[in-house]
Amino acid sequence: MSKVDDVKLAPSILAADFARLGEQVVEAEKAGADRIHVDVMDGGFVPNLSMGPAIVESLRKVTRLPLETHLMVSDPDRFLDEFAAAGSDSFLVHWEGNNNLHRTVQRIKALGKRAGVAINPATPSAALEEIVRDLDLVLVMTVNPGFGHQQFIRTTLPKIRRVRELVDRLEPGCQVEVDGGIDATTAPLVVRAGATVLVAGSSIFGDRDGVTAAMGRLRTIIDHPKEEPEPAEQSAF
Ligand code: DX5
Ligand code: ZN
Repeated sequence: MSKVDDVKLAPSILAADFARLGEQVVEAEKAGADRIHVDVMDGGFVPNLSMGPAIVESLRKVTRLPLETHLMVSDPDRFLDEFAAAGSDSFLVHWEGNNNLHRTVQRIKALGKRAGVAINPATPSAALEEIVRDLDLVLVMTVNPGFGHQQFIRTTLPKIRRVRELVDRLEPGCQVEVDGGIDATTAPLVVRAGATVLVAGSSIFGDRDGVTAAMGRLRTIIDHPKEEPEPAEQSAF
């Protein structure tokens, strides 16, 4: 179980209004965001295209918050230098499809950046076992990567718990982050399962009351969760 005051919010700009991106990120910073999550997609690793280093470079000028770059791309090593030069502070690279993950992680560290590894919903927590000691953070995907505004996959909850146990045992300083479908309903569940960093896109930038109100609501529900029974694990029948 994580201490709620340690829980960090990482708004994902994938759901932002790109015509007002700088303004929205500044608003998120003022509303208490801890870092900004930048989703990079190459149309190959995931079936969608998003943004490149130019966005990071522009954001670097408007916010002091750490810029976290989530690389959903087939060959992350190709892009590390460019994003680092643009102002990325940390990288999340995927376990899936990377035959040389340890090398990728070492390259990130050689650039002086924080390194994280992401695992997709169908990837077991044990995939992190041999790499976690080299990491600053692990990211449990709670949706399949590629799109914002998808439904939270509930079967990831016991996996978050397993990842929390693994991290506490092997690399207690490593942060456990979750990404996808995080809102006022799912945030308390993932925190209870052991997540300490919550990425949220549409529940922050897509909220009709605005970024500040949405951030405030999320913060309140994290800090004062309603006592609810743990949801039963879904059965296939
Ligand atoms: C999904 C991305 C997420 C996405 C989350 O591929 O990695 O960061 O922006 O969006 P929401 O919070 O809308 O599920
Ligand atoms: Zn992401």
